[in-house]
Amino acid sequence: MHVLVTGGAGYIGSHAALLLLEAGHRVSVFDNLSNSSPEALKRVHQMSGSAPELFVGDLLDADRVTEVLEITKPDAVIHFGGLKAVGESVEKPITYYQNNVVGTLNLITAMESAQVKRLVFSSSATVYAESKELPLVENAQRDASNPYGRTKLHIEQILEDLAVSDPQWSIAILRYFNPVGAHPSGNIGEDPQGIPNNLMPFIAQVAVGRRNEVRVFGTDYPTYDGTGVRDYIHVMDLAQGHLDALGYLNQNTGQYVWNLGTGSGTSVLDVIGAFSRACGRQLPYELVDRRPGDIAEYYGDPTTARLELGWKAERGIEEMARDMWKWQSNNPSGYPDYDLEGIPEDELNKFIRGARESLPETK
Ligand code: WQD
Repeated sequence: MHVLVTGGAGYIGSHAALLLLEAGHRVSVFDNLSNSSPEALKRVHQMSGSAPELFVGDLLDADRVTEVLEITKPDAVIHFGGLKAVGESVEKPITYYQNNVVGTLNLITAMESAQVKRLVFSSSATVYAESKELPLVENAQRDASNPYGRTKLHIEQILEDLAVSDPQWSIAILRYFNPVGAHPSGNIGEDPQGIPNNLMPFIAQVAVGRRNEVRVFGTDYPTYDGTGVRDYIHVMDLAQGHLDALGYLNQNTGQYVWNLGTGSGTSVLDVIGAFSRACGRQLPYELVDRRPGDIAEYYGDPTTARLELGWKAERGIEEMARDMWKWQSNNPSGYPDYDLEGIPEDELNKFIRGARESLPETK
C-alpha cells in the first residue's frame, strides 16, 4: 500500500513510518517540521533501506494539503499531525483548535476530493471523562478536561459524522494512553522541544544530565503508592497498532474505535525505579505538590483491539525505560538542530535518501 503519514517526521509518526517501510509499504510524509526533524526520516531510511518521501507543508494550508493528496494519491492516510501539549493548549486554545480541528477538516476535505477514504486517526485517552470505572473501555463516557483533549474529542465526533454521511469511508480512531520509549536501536526516539511536560522524557533528561532531578507531582493520590498511575505504552507497540488498524480498514468500511494501552497502570515512583535500573543509577527526585488538572490514575482496557485487530502490547515498563535510555544516551541533545530556513524540499529528500551529506545546523 501507499500510505500518507501526516506528522510522519515526529515521535510516533517516525516509528510508524519505519514499521510501514519494513512491511513493504510505500510511505509519503506530510509534515511542517515545526516539532520534528528530517533527521528522523533519514535514520528511518537507513534502518529500513527504503526512503519515505517528505512533502513539507502545513495542515492549515488547505491548498497545499489538496495538492499533496492529488500528487501522492495514497491508498490510506495515518493522521498524526497536530499539537499535543495539554498545558500549552490551556494557554493557546485558538492555536490548538485551528491546528488540530481545522487542520483535520482540511485533511478529510482533501481526502474526499482525491477519493481517498481510509483514515487512521491518532486520538487520545484524554477524551475519556475522569472515571472510577477502570480500566477504561471504548464506550466509557467522554468529556475532555482541557482544550487539547477537547480537540481530539471534537475530531472524533467529526469523523463519526463523516462515516455516517458516507459509508465508503473506513475510519479507525486509536485512543493512545501514555506513549513512551523508543526503537530498540536507539536511533530514533522522542525529542521534545524545551522542558518536557511528560514524565518519561523528563526522567530521561535527568538521567542524561540535562536536568537536575525529577519532580514527583503529588504523593497523596488514592493509588497504590500515592503517586500518579498511568498506562504507559511502548511506542513500538503503539506503532504496530497502526499497521494492524490499517489492515482492518482494508477489509472493513465504517468507523471503529480502539484503545491502545497495556491494560495496567504504573506509578510515577515505579517509572523512576525502572529508569534508574535502565541507566544504572538511582535517579534523584523531589516530592512536590500535585500538578493542577492531573487525575490520580487511568489505564485502558485493550480487549477490543486484541479481539478485532489481533493487537496486544508486548513490551513492559522495564523495556520502555531501557529503550528510552538507549535513545537518550545515544542522543543526549536529541536530533541535530538544523537551520532549515530556505532549504528546498527536494534537498531535504536528498538528505533523507543519503544523496546529500548534511544540512546546516543552527549555531
Ligand atoms: C504522567 C504522570 C503526572 C511529569 C499526557 C497528556 C495526554 C497524553 C499523554 C497525548 C502524572 C506525573 C509528570 C513530571 C510527574 N498525550 N508527572 N512529574 O498527564 O498522563 O498525559 O501525556 O495524547 O494527552 O495529557 O502524562 O507524562 O505528563 O504525566 O510526577 O515531571 O506523571 O502527575 O501522574 P499525562 P504525563
